[in-house]
Amino acid sequence: MIKPDAVSAGNTGAITKMIEEAGFRIVAMKKTLLTKERAGQFYAIHKERPFYNDLCNYMSSGPIVPMILEKENAVEDFRTLIGSTDPQKAAPGTIRNLFAKSIEANAIHGSDSDANAEIEGNFFFSRLEQF
Ligand code: CMP
Repeated sequence: MIKPDAVSAGNTGAITKMIEEAGFRIVAMKKTLLTKERAGQFYAIHKERPFYNDLCNYMSSGPIVPMILEKENAVEDFRTLIGSTDPQKAAPGTIRNLFAKSIEANAIHGSDSDANAEIEGNFFFSRLEQF
């Protein structure tokens, strides 16, 4: 999911180009907006964290671009492509190194397991939209 900071900065095209050049197939993609409540559902796993309320406000502050991506070893390879959560620690040339503004407004989210990729894909897309 490309986050509001990267979408509003006009970096959607540059980021999807990096994703495709890294060998991922974009199976589904759209531009949409989360309400604060929906953002809270998406990040429910973090609801006890001190940054949760700010995260929900930020994630509902502007359009996002969720995608379903396909590749061998996709979860691990995508996490390598995007870099560390904190852009200060993200390796040079990673998406967060290039485009993130802060640890919160960090340009992009990637699923952390195949099981969560399934859940998060279903959060944004119906089966009919995936091909
Ligand atoms: P993401 O990988 O989408 O997963 C949880 C998100 O919470 C993370 O990216 C950041 O946007 C945000 N986040 C994680 N840690 C912090 C933090 N310490 N302070 C603020 N936001 C954070």
